[in-house]
Amino acid sequence: MTMEKTFSILKPDATRRNLTGAINALIEKSGLKIIAQKRIHMSKAQAETFYGVHSERAFFNDLVEFMISGPVVVQVLEGENAVVAYRDIMGATNPENAEVGTIRKEFAESIEANSVHGSDSLENATIEMAYFFSGTELVG
Ligand code: CMP
Repeated sequence: MTMEKTFSILKPDATRRNLTGAINALIEKSGLKIIAQKRIHMSKAQAETFYGVHSERAFFNDLVEFMISGPVVVQVLEGENAVVAYRDIMGATNPENAEVGTIRKEFAESIEANSVHGSDSLENATIEMAYFFSGTELVG
């Protein structure tokens, strides 16, 4: 077991339905600690850069438009094996495939409006959290 940090976004469908607290409750219940958090409205350039790895995908433009359609909450989560632990409680990308008790099963509306993002690797977690937070904003 190793202590890790991972990066999380509560997406516009979640903030629109006032679900920040409900999702954070599931995160904290899992044992992960929210060590940084802020509510922002991403610019188009920020969203395009953040999701740059998907720029060739058919859903890229819709994804960017969705991510700038309202405020999001960006977070850094810390805990044992945090990258995998968070992906476990998020559930599958498509909520139709997500397991009962996961955030996406509980709250997601669709594969696009799927309430949360979580880093898919430790390497990407480091890149993604540095995109939105400076080191002094992480308070463990
Ligand atoms: P996320 O973990 O934020 O990373 C990329 C996002 O693209 C993903 O969650 C989905 O919300 C979104 N997305 C939209 N359409 C698709 C699709 N057809 N396949 C995979 N991801 C999709």
